[in-house]
Amino acid sequence: MRADAPVLIVGAGVAGLATALAAAPRPVRLLCRTHDGVGSASALAQGGIAAAIDPADHPAAHARDTLVAGAHHNDATAVRWLTDEAPRTVAWLVAQGVAFDREEDGALRLGREGGHGVPRIVHAGGDATGAAMVQALRAQAQRASHIQWRGGVDVEALLWRDGRVVGLRTRDERGREEIHDAARVVLATGGIGSLFARTSNPPGADGAGLALGLAAGAAARDLEFVQFHPTALDLPHRQSLPLVTEALRGAGARLRDARGHPVMDGVHPLGDLAPRDVVARRVWQACQEGGVWLDATTVTDWPYRFPTVLAACLEHGIDPRKAPIPVTPAAHFHMGGLSIDLDGDTAVPGLHAVGEVACNGVHGANRLASNSLLEGVACGRQLGARLATLPWAARGQGAMRWIERGPSLDSGTLAMLRQLMWSAAGPQRDAATLREALRQCGLWHGWQTRLAEALLLAALRRTESLGAHCRRDALAA
Ligand code: SIN
Repeated sequence: MRADAPVLIVGAGVAGLATALAAAPRPVRLLCRTHDGVGSASALAQGGIAAAIDPADHPAAHARDTLVAGAHHNDATAVRWLTDEAPRTVAWLVAQGVAFDREEDGALRLGREGGHGVPRIVHAGGDATGAAMVQALRAQAQRASHIQWRGGVDVEALLWRDGRVVGLRTRDERGREEIHDAARVVLATGGIGSLFARTSNPPGADGAGLALGLAAGAAARDLEFVQFHPTALDLPHRQSLPLVTEALRGAGARLRDARGHPVMDGVHPLGDLAPRDVVARRVWQACQEGGVWLDATTVTDWPYRFPTVLAACLEHGIDPRKAPIPVTPAAHFHMGGLSIDLDGDTAVPGLHAVGEVACNGVHGANRLASNSLLEGVACGRQLGARLATLPWAARGQGAMRWIERGPSLDSGTLAMLRQLMWSAAGPQRDAATLREALRQCGLWHGWQTRLAEALLLAALRRTESLGAHCRRDALAA
C-alpha cells in the first residue's frame, strides 16, 4: 500500500463499517451517498444474525442448513469458515455495543427462522436488528481516529495506473468532482434490488458498485441468483417497499387469498414456513390471481417483537393487529456479485469487494435467513484485518486512465427497465421472456442496462431451476 493514501471504502452498511473498523490503524476514508451514513439495506434488515451459540447447537449444523438452503451450490469452504466465525462475530458485535435481545437470565435470546434446524438467531430491538447494528458500528466509526467520513458523494469512476486500481472519482449533489488517491479500494455498495420494480431494498441498492467493478474487469459470479422475499408491504405505485418479516409467519401469521383461503395449503409440507423461494413463487402467482394478504391478527406483543412492521403498516393506514396486511413478493437479496476469494480480493489488483456486492459462493443458489448480516460483518472484519497488515506499495509512475461506470438511464427509461426485470427475471423465468428482455435492453443505453443484460444472460444460460432461480420452461420439460 502507499504510505500517503488511505484505504477507500465505498458504502456504509455493516460490511463497509466492519471493514473500516477492523482496518485500524490504517487510514480509511469511508465514502457514502448520504451525509449521515443512513440508507443502507443493512439498516432495514429485520432478520437477525445466525450463529451456533446454544450449547446444543454446532457450527457444523449451521453449515448443513446453509448448504441445504443454497441447494448445495455453495462454496463449502466458505460455508465452513462463515459458520465457524459466527459465534465470534456476535461476540465482537456485543463488544461494539450492539444491544441484542436477552432472556431474563441475561443469556442471548435465540430465535428460529425458516431453514434453520434449531433456534440460533439473535435479534436486537425485535425486528430492528440491522438498524441496531448499523447504529452501533456507525457510532464506533465516528469515534475512530483512523476513519474519515465523506458523505453525500457518488463514486462514478475508478482510477487505473500500472495495472492496478489506485483511486477513484466522486461527484457530490452539487455536481462537484473530487479525485481520491487510494492505497486500496473496497466496494461495499450492497445489492441490486433497485433494478426491479418491486424490492425490499432501499433506492440506493442499485448495483452501481457491481457495475463499476465489472467495468474494471472484475469477474462476475452467480449473477442469476436473486432471492425474492415473499412478503413486502404491497403499496401501489411504490418501488421500494417495507419488508414484512418472515418471523411473523413463524409467530403464526397465515397467507390468504382474496376469499380468505390459505394460499400455501397443499403447496409444501411446511405450509407458510416453506422455503422462501417456494413461498415467493406461490405468492407471485396468487398476486396475479387477485392478491395476497398476511393475516397476522393472532400475533401478540407487536410493539416489542415487531415494532418496525407495525410502524410501517400504521404509516400506511393498516393496523396489522386488526386487519390482514396486503403483501407482494419483492427482490430482496443478491447471492451473486463480484467474484472474490475468501480474503475479499477480486481478480483486479487493488480492488476488493465485501458484503452483498461480492460473491464468495457462501450463499449458493439461495441464502439462508439471517446469514447476510453475518456475512457482511464477518467478511468485513476479515478483510479489514488483512488490509491493516498488507505491505505498502510504491507510488506508480505509469500513465493514468479512468474506468467509467458510464451514464445513467433517465428516470422514465429506468422505470421501464425495472418493470422489464420484474417480469423477465423475477421469481419465475423462461427463455423466451429472458431473450425478449435482452433484446429490449439493447435499445437502452446506460450502466443499469449493462448490468441488467449481464444478469439476464446469466439467467438465460442457466437452463435448469436451482434455488432461487426458477425456470418455468425447465419445470415443464
Ligand atoms: C425476514 O426477516 O423475513 C428477512 C430476513 C433475512 O432476509 O434474512
